[in-house]
Order: sequence, then structure tokens, then C-alpha cells
Amino acid sequence: MQKIFSIAIDGPAGAGKSTVAKALARELGAMYLDTGAMYRAFGLAMLRAGVDVNSMSAVAARADDVDITVEYVDGVQHIYLAGEDVTTAIREPAVSGAASSVSAVPEVRARMVALQRRIAEGHSVVMDGRDIGTAVLPNATLKVYLTASAKERARRRCNELAEKGTPQPYEQVLEEIIERDWRDTHRAASPLRPAEDARPLDTSHMNQDEVVAALRRMAQEACR
Ligand code: DC
Repeated sequence: MQKIFSIAIDGPAGAGKSTVAKALARELGAMYLDTGAMYRAFGLAMLRAGVDVNSMSAVAARADDVDITVEYVDGVQHIYLAGEDVTTAIREPAVSGAASSVSAVPEVRARMVALQRRIAEGHSVVMDGRDIGTAVLPNATLKVYLTASAKERARRRCNELAEKGTPQPYEQVLEEIIERDWRDTHRAASPLRPAEDARPLDTSHMNQDEVVAALRRMAQEACR
């Protein structure tokens, strides 16, 4: 493997990016950065401040005020808002919607992209998100576009929610996924799309181990 490498994993919500990116980073001894967590933290900050997340100008006006930091505790990424650990709080369903809305605001994106580049500087990194290959790491050693059908992503999400003891009806989860896909792909600022040089990987019919193995092979090839 190259001395310092960067791997960009993009794709829609629920494609399993974070689980496999984390596992790949561990195998390769690289840092893992979940960039969605940063948009979630920003969304949470807006909800707490009572800012209307659907008002792009109101959110943009706060872009520089939010104090987000990322730290690693025993190798696990923790995210902080003004020093408060919000790693768990950002997983609330209300925060998912807020994150999607604030991520459409160019001023927020510019701030997050700068922060993501700064965190990754000088490290081998596996980063997952929506715009890693297209905007954050345009020169990444390897870019992967991870997808799965909306139905399969909804099925996986339903299983996760049931395991957590917070089950939700399949139809509702599917509808939310379709709506989030639409917002993420239709926003003007860095819409979700594969980078031209990204390798597509459809995981609809693969289990986690198979996905990690496929990524490892791609990484080894790319880093040779
Ligand atoms: O991956 P996630 O569900 O935690 O992401 C939360 C929201 O943030 C999602 O609506 C897409 C957005 N996002 C983004 O626009 N760019 C990224 N690099 C990561 C996430």
C-alpha cells in the first residue's frame, strides 16, 4: 500500500457506507471520518437554536457560529458541539431531516469541506459521505460509489431500528429514504452524484463481509 492514501466512499443514505468504511479503515490502519455526522451536528445545533432549517438564509447566517470538533476515543469517532459530546444525539430521526436541509446550504458545505480536509491532512483516511470524491478529496487514491436499491436500504434500516428497540413501519422508512435521496440528489450545492472516476459498487445482493472484501481488493489495486 502507498504511504499515505485516501479513499472516498460516497452514496445514498442507508447504503451501508459507514459500517463498511469503518471496517475497511480498521483493516488498512487508516483514519475513518464519517462526514454525515458533521452535517448532523450542524443540523442539531440549528434545531437547538430554534433556527428554521428550511430557511437557507437563516442557516447560512449561522454557518460560521457553530463549533464542531471531531475526536477519536479508543478509535471511535466522537463529535462535539461546543465541547458537548453529541455522538448519540445526532442519530435522532429529527436530526436526519435537519442534516439533509442544512447540507443544501453552500455556506455550510464550504465550512464542512474545509474542516474535513483539515482533519484528514497528513493521514491515510477512509472518508464517507456524499461529495467526498467530487468535492472534498478530488484526488483521492480510490473513489467508490456505494449503492443499493431503495427497497433494500429500507429493509436494512427497518432491521436496524427493530434491533435498537425503535421499530418503524417499512412503508414509512421507504418513503423517508426516497425523499432524502431526492433532496440529496436535487440540491444545487454539491448534489449527490458519482465522481466521474468513481467505481460503482451495488451492494443490494451482498452482505457486509462481501462488501468489505470487495473494497479491500479495490484499495489494494488502487494503492499499488
Ligand atoms: O450519511 P448521513 O445520513 O449521516 O448524512 C446526513 C445528511 O448529511 C444527509 O442528508 C446527507 C448529508 N451529507 C452531505 O450532504 N454530504 C456529506 N459529505 C455527508 C452527508
